[in-house]
Amino acid sequence: MATGRALALALAIGLTAAGCAPRPGQMASAEHGAETVAEHPGKAVYDQWCSSCHDDGGKSGAPSLAAIRQLNRATVKYALELGYMKIQAKDVPADDLAQLIDWMPTSEGSNDTWIDAARCPIKSREVRLDGAPRTSTTFGVTNDANRAQTAEQAGLSREQMKDLDVAWVVAFPQTPTMRSQPVIVGDTLFIAATDSGRLYALDTNTGCVKWHYVSEMTLRSSITFAEATDNSPAAIIMGDAAGFVHAVNAKTGGKIWVSNARLNEYNRITGAPVVHDGMVITPVSAIEVNYAGADDYECCKGQGAVIAFDLATGKKLWTGTTMDEAKPTRLGRTGTQQWGPSGAIIWSTPVIDPKRNVAYAGTGENVSWPATDTSDAIIAYDLDTGDKRWVFQATNADIWNYACGRRGANCDWPGEYHSPDHDFGATAMLIKRSDGSELVVAGQKSGVVWALNPDNGQLVWSNKVGRGSANGGAHWGLAYDGELIFAPMNDPNRPPTPGENPAFGPGIHALDAVTGEIRWSYKPNQRDCGADMPAAKAYTPPPEWRIQPVSAPVLPTPRVATPPRPAAGSGATPAAAASAPPPRPTAPCRLGMSPAPLVVDGAVVTGTTQGMLRIFDAKTGEVLFEYMTNRDFPETVNGIEGHGGGLDSAPYIAGDGTLFVQSGYARFGEPPGNVLIAFRPKEK
Ligand code: HEC
Repeated sequence: MATGRALALALAIGLTAAGCAPRPGQMASAEHGAETVAEHPGKAVYDQWCSSCHDDGGKSGAPSLAAIRQLNRATVKYALELGYMKIQAKDVPADDLAQLIDWMPTSEGSNDTWIDAARCPIKSREVRLDGAPRTSTTFGVTNDANRAQTAEQAGLSREQMKDLDVAWVVAFPQTPTMRSQPVIVGDTLFIAATDSGRLYALDTNTGCVKWHYVSEMTLRSSITFAEATDNSPAAIIMGDAAGFVHAVNAKTGGKIWVSNARLNEYNRITGAPVVHDGMVITPVSAIEVNYAGADDYECCKGQGAVIAFDLATGKKLWTGTTMDEAKPTRLGRTGTQQWGPSGAIIWSTPVIDPKRNVAYAGTGENVSWPATDTSDAIIAYDLDTGDKRWVFQATNADIWNYACGRRGANCDWPGEYHSPDHDFGATAMLIKRSDGSELVVAGQKSGVVWALNPDNGQLVWSNKVGRGSANGGAHWGLAYDGELIFAPMNDPNRPPTPGENPAFGPGIHALDAVTGEIRWSYKPNQRDCGADMPAAKAYTPPPEWRIQPVSAPVLPTPRVATPPRPAAGSGATPAAAASAPPPRPTAPCRLGMSPAPLVVDGAVVTGTTQGMLRIFDAKTGEVLFEYMTNRDFPETVNGIEGHGGGLDSAPYIAGDGTLFVQSGYARFGEPPGNVLIAFRPKEK
């Protein structure tokens, strides 16, 4: 770039900035001051357009500046030009945007140089599939999503989990968030560093690299292993942040196909695509909820779906939508055209029921008016056609988007609705009970666990075990050991209100699959964050608090009319002001149990967003093992600097005698991190 132009730009930005009132971002810039303060004009562009959220991740949910500066240029460019940040960047002048993209990544290009040095020796480089155990082949471990592994599958027993040690650590460059659950076949672990668009086949014994695959787009979902068929080789399947499904040869890392799962430009893939009967059943989520924060955005047209692709060719077979296509509805109070219905996107991984030939998928809230009867619901999709067999709606008329915190123009609708944002983000499970009967069990962000009849979606039992919130309740998933359902709650960490169920708050509950009653509960305490206090212990709640049934659907409480607040404006930056999410109370100690748990033999593996790994005895809730992963790992087998952080999404899987834990999650103010930690029983 011509230095003269850069200087002129810097001057221009400097002058503009000087004319404004100081913003939090400008003050905070001193923190990052060790490096090139104001030298590069991109920094000033950041201060003006981005700092209001990214310097305050606890409130906005945004990754910190330090975390996004670790991303490679392709990821930053994608986020700003096509992805989640498009709306935040849309008013930034093109030259400024170019400066921003030039400045932001702290390392040049894509850091793949470590891979050659970390390559497996020839004798262990082969991905051996023939006769190798299929230890865990998808997000749910198996397609019923019970998330349970036997001692034989894991190579680890409950007893051995009491005494684990870190065997080795691999760290991934340009990666502040570990969001994708790996799969294990034999002695190969398939794992993605999603932020950097890299998928790796690693050796389970040493962490050395067998192959790597490069995606041009940021990767996003968890991973699924597909067996070879007459027409296709064994494959690794995953979804990316732009809504494409990737099928990669499991033996070589070569691309087989990449297929488009977008209904429109807003879609992305968050839950894992699953494989059944020669089809790749793909859940589709979207980013439009964020765009709606801007008053001049024509909200909203996107919706969720489940889409089936042919495993061999990647050809689309059918699309199961969640609602009719959006049409223009009304003018918002700022005169902008609004669209609807929209939303009911699918964050979770579909659950396959081969006997009934359906896939169960949980949906999110509606994003604009009018509400549909498919939001905050579990939908059974016919596996031949994508038609809906039944719909169970847990919460009615839940319409929410980023405008709702301040009742912006895109959160201003007629009629009765509420905006609790009570998605089914968590993957459901198809479970078999001791008497042979089956249930579809799903945890909601409302803190309710629902048990449904798989034949017709009728409610069998429900239990509200969490307070619930937009980020609380059941967040990523549950697990089942054949008798108990393990339901972690990501509730905010705040004192209980009088009369409230004492079970509410961050913690985990073991529910009897037959009755839905709590058998034991565990609530982590501030000791996890260094407070000098006794360790928390599991307990059995008194009978009156073991079950709190809820009937469905939960209806909005009639509203008392309040005048809309004026549009935010003066002084603040336009993009930031328009879409800043509501402030949330800051949680100094993150005890939320967001990740989906994992059953290994008689133990339940869990984690907190602060980074605490904790393993319980499944029957009693006794703590067998704990380890704070939020720490530095200076010694890694691949020579990249390693840092642990928050545990979120689905960070653990066991296999080949090892418990693998990924640590780091640069969202919602959680600590970023880039490591895969291999735990093994201590050598005696
Ligand atoms: C209104 C608040 C807000 C503003 C303003 C904002 N961001 Fe973000 N940003 C977020 C949130 C929230 C996320 C996390 C999104 C997610 O969870 O996927 C994010 C994510 C990102 C990411 C990571 C994307 C990925 O794929 O991992 C990048 C890069 C980014 N922002 C850059 C920017 C830049 C550059 C600007 C200024 C032009 C900006 N943001 C302005 C809220 C904001």
